[in-house]
Amino acid sequence: MIITIVSTLLALLVAAPSFAAQAVTYEKDIKGIIEARCLLCHGQRSPTMEEFDKDKEGYKKKMKGPRYDSYANLMVVVKGSDAGALMRRLDDGTNTKDGKPGNMYQYLGKTDAERKANLETFKKWVGNWTLKRKKELSEKELEAIKAPEK
Ligand code: HEC
Repeated sequence: MIITIVSTLLALLVAAPSFAAQAVTYEKDIKGIIEARCLLCHGQRSPTMEEFDKDKEGYKKKMKGPRYDSYANLMVVVKGSDAGALMRRLDDGTNTKDGKPGNMYQYLGKTDAERKANLETFKKWVGNWTLKRKKELSEKELEAIKAPEK
């Protein structure tokens, strides 16, 4: 009896942290925010990153940014060829050099509370919230950017 109770308690203790720290994933948490807050300008009618780079000014005038309608397209600005761009644009000013928020922070929510909450979700998802550019990131720092799909 005692042994059963003790082993049950031990099992609960081991299991508890994994419940508490359920991972933030693209499918479960991020995709919905992107759909609601970003796809108006970063959706299917927006250019791919390559197309965007060829005519940045033209697309800016049309209020179109690069397409983030899939996990793969979004990863380009998280830890791909333009690593850190997502973090630089979404930071609330806590980590930027001039203390000003990134220019996409405003779109994270309709209210300050919503923007803060959504930023927290993005930070947990990314893991290593760094504003460094691809060439400044060490391999270790790049690996620490998690951003899991599922
Ligand atoms: C009203 C339109 C609009 C909305 C909404 C919007 N964006 Fe943008 N975004 C743009 C435009 C236009 C650009 C390109 C001009 C620039 O670099 O600022 C851009 C650029 C970016 C870039 C940099 C791309 C690059 O590599 O140069 C990132 C990252 C980004 N947006 C993320 C987001 C995220 C995440 C959201 C949602 C929280 C969002 N944006 C919402 C219009 C928008």
